Amino acid sequence: MDNIPARGSHTRLDSYVDRYAARTAGMTASEIRALFAVASRPEVVSLAGGMPNISGLPLDVVGAAIGDLIATNGPVALQYGSGQGDPTLRDQICDVMRLEGIEAHPDDVVVTIGSQQAVDLVTRIFCDPGDVVLCEAPSYVGALGVFKSFQCDVVHVGMDADGLVPEALDQAIRAVKRAGKTIKFLYTIPNFHNPAGVTLAPERRPEILRICREHDILVLEDNPYGLLGFDREPIRALRADEAEGVIYLGSFSKTFSPGMRVGWALAPHAVREKLVLAQESATLCPPSFSQMAVSAYLTAHDWQGQIKQMREMYRERRDAMMSALDDFMPAACAWNRPEGGFFVWVSLPPGIDAKAMLPRAVTARVAYVPGTAFFADGFGSGSMRLSFCYPTPERIREGVRRLAGVLESEMELRETFGATSPTHELDVRSGYNSPGTDLG
Ligand SMILES: Cc1ncc(COP(=O)(O)O)c(C=O)c1O
Repeated sequence: MDNIPARGSHTRLDSYVDRYAARTAGMTASEIRALFAVASRPEVVSLAGGMPNISGLPLDVVGAAIGDLIATNGPVALQYGSGQGDPTLRDQICDVMRLEGIEAHPDDVVVTIGSQQAVDLVTRIFCDPGDVVLCEAPSYVGALGVFKSFQCDVVHVGMDADGLVPEALDQAIRAVKRAGKTIKFLYTIPNFHNPAGVTLAPERRPEILRICREHDILVLEDNPYGLLGFDREPIRALRADEAEGVIYLGSFSKTFSPGMRVGWALAPHAVREKLVLAQESATLCPPSFSQMAVSAYLTAHDWQGQIKQMREMYRERRDAMMSALDDFMPAACAWNRPEGGFFVWVSLPPGIDAKAMLPRAVTARVAYVPGTAFFADGFGSGSMRLSFCYPTPERIREGVRRLAGVLESEMELRETFGATSPTHELDVRSGYNSPGTDLG
């Protein structure tokens, strides 16, 4: 007994360790978190973070709209609100979704604290421990964290340069069923994928919906980047062609402000009711102030014109990233050309481990996220995610130049000493892979 530290005593051991719920086993700090503290120093070019670049927002317009909101409607904005979210904002959300071909009723929209909370609520109402969630390979790290914390089994499905591969999806579903497990939904990011940067090809969309319908699998369509395409009109959402089998998630984080923490779920009617109950038990209601501030911004400002400006700014950064990669990266690397969003996925030469290389990259004053962060099953070491959303075009070029230098010395080392690492992940050159689907 003597060597058990007293509660609250200053020790690095956690005296509560035996008491946590089993689900906390999946809640682990990222191994690379400490490195990112270093990576945020100004001398380091961070190609790691996915922070939206809000430098172009008209702060005077936002400030005036919020001031006016408090002056005219303060007692409502500063009060609790409805668990489902502000009705005016839900109306406006339907206008936003119409740009992607979705005809929805505001009654079927639930406002959430960012779309991150929507992922959490959907998982909360559908998943028991051991249930399977199908995810692209790779997938959004924040969603993987939610699935882990609800003790789901993530099964990755292969992608290529045209997004999720329908045949890989069909095979994965059959393999999971053969293994006697229950699939609760397919979590997919069809547009300007985080982290892969790819977009689901139009001809694959009906095919993905058909497969899910045939196997009675719900689709969770996460689309925070949908309006940030560089060269085209918004792409028609999966939800636009399938109302009953799709829950659609949207967010104002990338098109207005992540600090507002306002996102939403559009769900079939019965699911919507459960989501509201889950929202009420989690938070009582989403914040009235944020919702009304977003609503005031949408009313006071040319938000579509603002998004157009953002797209141009991100396109310029994407172009800077592409030409730097072309100019500096070793020939054995490969990457895709994102048509929108924030990210590019780089496949490294065989034998290079992106996670092992990260400390050396940070020492050389450049940071990225190793591919392993985006897989639930330890794959991804031969890849990395680079983001082009935040640094200036000049900094992006400098960051890629430094990264290429680190890679070249790493390749020399490998040549001298030899090493192998699995390279099974999204291969933008060959166009097909299907990791992690074999449960047999
Ligand atoms: C694919 C994806 N989904 C959801 C989110 C969460 O966004 P938010 O909670 O800010 O709406 C992000 C944020 O980076 C994302 O990339």
